[in-house]
Amino acid sequence: MTETSLARDPIAQIHDLFARRGDLAYGEAIDQLQHALQSARLAELRGEGPAMITACLLHDIGHMQHEDAAAALACGDDDGHESIGMHFLLPWFSDQVVAPVALHVQAKRYLAAVDAEYLAQLSRVSRHTLDLQGGPMSLVEAATFARLPFASAAIRLRRIDEAAKVPGASTPPLSHYLRIAAGCRRDRRAK
Ligand SMILES: [Fe+2]
Ligand SMILES: [Fe+2]
Repeated sequence: MTETSLARDPIAQIHDLFARRGDLAYGEAIDQLQHALQSARLAELRGEGPAMITACLLHDIGHMQHEDAAAALACGDDDGHESIGMHFLLPWFSDQVVAPVALHVQAKRYLAAVDAEYLAQLSRVSRHTLDLQGGPMSLVEAATFARLPFASAAIRLRRIDEAAKVPGASTPPLSHYLRIAAGCRRDRRAK
């Protein structure tokens, strides 16, 4: 594959990103690749379709694109990874993939506001990042969020996200999910 075609092919770019930065710490005794694969696997097990499986695989891709996400969080800065991820995915993938990724941080703030059980089970790291991300939504914010077109998908992704942090859990390989992701490309679907 030439350098030019690599730059144009999102699946190759994603493969390259996981190969180069997938071992970055997720912060909970697993790395970014393991968290992504566990998320995609849970989506499969819960009967989600290809778009949601792809969204789960790629929801934290912005962490790997951020120059130093871990340092940002340690300094008390939210790294804005959902926005970084959304901008990367937007030209390539359907709204069914991109929107839940873009909304998954807001979905956490939503769930923290409306579901006390969810808030109580957040891991230490997740609780810390929730504070950096603005804390639980107000009731007005939560009502507005719930009306967004992809709110339901973002909430399902978020619940999967919290469950996909099990050290040593076995998953299918990245190649399995990249094949699913390839079928969700915006340009492919238009043909
Ligand atoms: Fe995230
Ligand atoms: Fe995540």
